[in-house]
Amino acid sequence: MEEVLKFLKDAGVYYLATAEGDQPRVRPFGTVHIFEGKLYIQTGKVKAVSKQIQANPKVEICAFKDGKWLRVSGELVRDDRREAKESMLEAYPMLKGRYSADDDNTEVLYFKDAAATFSSFTEAPRTVTF
Ligand SMILES: Cc1cc2nc3c(=O)[nH]c(=O)nc-3n(C[C@H](O)[C@H](O)[C@H](O)COP(=O)(O)O)c2cc1C
Repeated sequence: MEEVLKFLKDAGVYYLATAEGDQPRVRPFGTVHIFEGKLYIQTGKVKAVSKQIQANPKVEICAFKDGKWLRVSGELVRDDRREAKESMLEAYPMLKGRYSADDDNTEVLYFKDAAATFSSFTEAPRTVTF
């Protein structure tokens, strides 16, 4: 999981795919954080992406860096605990202007049953699960 965190942070941006009915939706994301041994991302409950995840928690993310790409598929689980939100906001202090652990909007979610596959044009794909 540390390796996945590092790749996503080094890439700077990853793309988060959700499903809205039979229509895939994808958008750039950046937040990624490990808390209590789980890989978390952050969003706002008001966003369409949040509503899509609540309706169907199966997601996939993809990032690319230095000729390698990473795909992480799994389910996202909302964690409404204050300490989980605090931990994310401490990792991304710039979010504190728009989000707080006590507002009704801030949402953090962790990956459950995740499979992360590292790929490149030169090496065989390698999958880790967490
Ligand atoms: C580089 C970059 C990183 C971003 N990271 C996040 C993020 O971590 N969480 C988030 O909620 N929005 C993030 N955004 C904004 C979302 O991409 C944007 O709100 C998007 O419209 C959300 O998807 P939706 O319109 O389907 O709800 C980021 C945007 C950019 C350009």
